[in-house]
Amino acid sequence: MNPDIEQRPDQARPDRLLVLGTGGTIAGRAEQRGDHVGYRAGEVAVADLLAGIALPAGWRVQAEQLAQVDSKDMGPGVWRPLLARVRELLEQADVAGIVITHGTDTLEETAYLLQRLLAPAKPVVLTCAMRPATALAPDGPQNLADALVVAAEPGALGVVAVCAGRIHAALEVRKVHHYRLDAFDSGDAGPLGLVEQGTCTRFKPWPAADEPEPGRRLARLERLLGQQPWPRVECLFSHGGADGWLVRALLAQDAAQGRQRADRLQGLVVAGTGNGTLHQDLQAALLEAQAAGLRVWRSTRCASGRVLSVAASTDPIPAVALPPAQARLALLLELCA
Ligand code: SIN
Repeated sequence: MNPDIEQRPDQARPDRLLVLGTGGTIAGRAEQRGDHVGYRAGEVAVADLLAGIALPAGWRVQAEQLAQVDSKDMGPGVWRPLLARVRELLEQADVAGIVITHGTDTLEETAYLLQRLLAPAKPVVLTCAMRPATALAPDGPQNLADALVVAAEPGALGVVAVCAGRIHAALEVRKVHHYRLDAFDSGDAGPLGLVEQGTCTRFKPWPAADEPEPGRRLARLERLLGQQPWPRVECLFSHGGADGWLVRALLAQDAAQGRQRADRLQGLVVAGTGNGTLHQDLQAALLEAQAAGLRVWRSTRCASGRVLSVAASTDPIPAVALPPAQARLALLLELCA
């Protein structure tokens, strides 16, 4: 934990910014300063990351180490306490905004869950790095400083990601590069804004709640915070020679174990080719999965763009306009409804 770093005189206005550490390359440590790939993610304490940067003047900035993981290993074990803590902090009147340091690899999944389940009326800003904290020229310190600028921005709200000077909306952001510092993109939607020299410039509105019924959102949140396993949804690809063997193996395994188990398979997201098209043999197996009671959605394996449904589509496998990893979470939330 980091003690309060700066005291703001005007106590009537929210004056607290929280920085929750979850690990990632931004907290990574390498043996050699020039090593950008052979490092261990999630080693440097978030308080130490904060100690290395200039903090926004007039704010109390506090650090909490919520987790310390390589985000490839992200899952309900971290998502549950993160959702609970962010919800708790958002309810505190003196908290103006929250920054979450996170690995880049699953950042878009955590951002998606936070926005869909909390739809915060305050800014929740995920940030990250592509080089470890020990690098000769790490990118984490600037990203963290920029994230704090966004968290302190008047009127900011919703979940966003800040990386390499660009602000991305939670439901648009995706990692598009394995190495370069500007590893994120908002696809055809473009970034929400920029952070340059400590100033935030916005091109689009902040992310707003997309759930017409907040009660449903809260019910899903309560269910996911509970003890039972999250609905099991798996992802697979359509590809040359995809003959449905994998789908039938899953169905057989699930049938053998009994469909009454809490952790039974409930959904499949298939990343189709192009506009979500499927190899005919895989499609046949997926229809068998539907007949066995599974929910099946189509996404695309294309790096950009989203599946367009034909208006009068009679396709029995519905398409979803999200990349596969976010589509998996969308289906999981649907199964919690
Ligand atoms: C991770 O996702 O935790 C490791 C990779 C990264 O942060 O760039």
